[in-house]
This record gives sequence, C-alpha cells and structure tokens, in this order.
Amino acid sequence: PYSWYKEMRAKSPVYFDQKQGVWNVFLYEDVNRVISDKDVFSSKRFQQSRPFHSIINTDPPEHTRLRSLVSHAFTPKMIAGWEPRIRAIATELLDKVSGQTHMDLVEDFSYPLPVMVIAELLGIPTSDRKQFKEWSDIVVSGPSSTADIQETIDRRDKAIKELMEYFSQIIEEKRKNLKEDMISTLIKAEENEGKLSSEELFGFCITLLIAGNETTTNLISNAVYCFLENQTIWEELKRDPGLIPHAVEETLRYRSPVQAIPRRAKTDAEIGGFHIKPGQIVLAWIGSANRDEQKFTDPDEFQLRRNPNPHLSFGKGIHFCLGAPLARLEAKIALEEFLKRYSSIALKEGYQLDPVNSNLLYGLKSLHIAVS
Ligand code: HEM
Repeated sequence: PYSWYKEMRAKSPVYFDQKQGVWNVFLYEDVNRVISDKDVFSSKRFQQSRPFHSIINTDPPEHTRLRSLVSHAFTPKMIAGWEPRIRAIATELLDKVSGQTHMDLVEDFSYPLPVMVIAELLGIPTSDRKQFKEWSDIVVSGPSSTADIQETIDRRDKAIKELMEYFSQIIEEKRKNLKEDMISTLIKAEENEGKLSSEELFGFCITLLIAGNETTTNLISNAVYCFLENQTIWEELKRDPGLIPHAVEETLRYRSPVQAIPRRAKTDAEIGGFHIKPGQIVLAWIGSANRDEQKFTDPDEFQLRRNPNPHLSFGKGIHFCLGAPLARLEAKIALEEFLKRYSSIALKEGYQLDPVNSNLLYGLKSLHIAVS
C-alpha cells in the first residue's frame, strides 16, 4: 500500500471515496488529530448491534469507566511479571521445530505465541487451551472467499456463543476462587470501581482475542520479514541483542500491523479545507502517517536507531492501545529467542510472499524460511 499512500499524500491527502461514502486522511498531522480528538471524532463506529460489546467502540463517559477498570489488569508491573511465562512459551514453540532446516514462521511461531500467552494471562486451564485456540481462530478469521461469507458468519456466531457459555462458567468459578490471572484481577477491581457485568467481562475477553492476537502475530512476522530483506539488521541484532526493542519500534513504524483506524464525525469538522459532515466515517491511515516525509526523515528506510520514533501504530489519545506494553514485550522476547536459536535465515527457495487479505491489517499468512 506504501506507494499508494505516497501518491495520496502528494496529490490528495484528504480524499472522499464516493463509492464507499468514506473520508480518507493520509498526512501525519491529520491522522493524529482524527484518532485523538474524541470530542469531534467518535469511536462508536458500528450502528448494528454486535454479539458482544467492546471498549474500542465506546466514547466517554462509558469508555472512561471501562478503561479505568481494565487498566488494573494491564499495569506495567503486571505485564513485566509475565515475562518468564512468555519466554517459556516462546522457547517451547521453538523447541518443537528444533533440528528442522525449514519452518513456517507464522504457523510455527508468531501465530500460536499470542494465543497461548493470552490463554495463560486469562487463566484458561491448560486442558481447555486447544478448544480455546480453535474458538479464537474462528472468531478472528475472515471469510476465505465471498461465497463463504454466510458460512463464515454462522461459524463465527456459533463459536462466539460457545465461548460466551465457556467464559460464563470460568467467570463463575473465578468469582468463588480468585487467583492471580487477568479475569480474577478484573473481578477484584470491581470492588473499587463498581460492578463489571459478566457480559462486559466477556466482551473484554473477546476484545483481547481480537485486538491482541493477529496484530501481535503480524508484528513478529513483519519484523522477521524486515530482517530477511535487510540482512545487516539481522547481523547487527545478533551482535547486540540490546537493540531488539528498537527493531520492534521501527517495525511498528515501517510495517504497521494496523494500517487504518475508523472514526465517525460527531459534529461538523474541517480537515485540510474539506468539510466533514456529522455521521460521516473518516478512515485515518496510520500506515501512511508513519511514512510521512514531513514527520520522518528518509521514511522509506528501516533505520534501527531511529530516534525519536513517534509512530502512531498503537493509536493515540484515550484509546491508545491498552495491550501495547504486552505486545512490545511479546515481540521482544519472541525475537530474542529466535535470534538466539539461529545464526542465519533466508526466504525458502521458490516461496511467494503471502500477504493477509485486508486493507486495515498488514501482515503475512505464512512466511516459509530456511534456518541454520
Ligand atoms: C487499541 C494496535 C496489541 C488490546 C488499539 C488501537 C490500536 C492498536 C491502533 C487503537 C484503536 C482506536 O484508537 O480505535 C495494536 C497493535 C498491537 C496490539 C499494532 C500489536 C502489535 C494488543 C494486545 C492487546 C491489545 C496484545 C491485549 C491483549 C487493545 C485494547 C484496545 C486496543 C483493549 C482498546 C483500548 C481502548 O479503547 O481504550 N490497539 N494493538 N492490543 N488494543 Fe491494541
């Protein structure tokens, strides 16, 4: 999409798509404003009712209440405390393919890692993890072709219903026997912040699956893809693993897992001389903002030591990604363990890159590599 963004920034940085009836903005300053000005641009984007309710689609004051509750489960201290478990999961996954000369990085590593981590964080019993992963896969997967849309929706609704029943049971059990996991933490937080209904708790668990899994998978795969393209980065990181967090930040900017964030105008607004009417949808292209030449020098270069790096890949303002510290930690640990394991990596011969088919997300469906 990057050459399209460049063209749009140059020729038509605020663009109304007649067919979709949607505004598109491409410049850093405009994107920044659309995603952070909550008084003008609402997060209540969907008019249809959904089977679950998510914090991502709320405005204050509802958002303020939900955010204050769930932030108890995402304090930096809590996230840092998960480090040994995340490392154990990463190691376990790499052990499974040890001795192999080829792997599909997505299937073998970057895809299972976030689901296993979230199952662990939520306190899903190990015996239920396989079923949990199956449900998650169905809930987050899109249709493989247009003919499958109805079938996909039916399967998805069924999985959500089953997950809902499963979570109600888990929540009931945890109310009786509080532990250290995230669901227990949320139940404890209710005592101070007021009741969180079981429905809200469930909505939050599903939100974590949807918001946190594919995005983190794509961050890890996109990082390795950047190293494949530019072997000097791989070599630098091998010499100095202390630079891995910089590689994570630059991957976030250079190949942002989320490319666009939608908002709905609440009032009349003006962007770049264009008039946005109340109710209209505005798509803020963070993937383009992250390559805006007015904000970043040499934006089309992956610079390991880029500083500052004010990318917008986790959003901005009151909806700033709650899972950002977790995603950063998962990606750091994943890359550390991966770099420790292998001295060199290359694209598997004959393998054609297989991008995910979505405009809003950016990543790979598979990444076949030769490792040694
Ligand atoms: C919000 C990106 C990982 C949970 C967001 C937003 C972005 C984003 C752009 C803002 C949406 C908006 O303004 O409308 C990402 C990326 C990730 C990632 C790129 C990985 C690389 C995670 C993880 C979790 C998570 C691991 C949790 C386990 C959330 C939640 C929100 C959110 C709950 C909503 C916050 C709110 O509305 O206040 N994320 N995310 N994300 N993210 Fe993430």
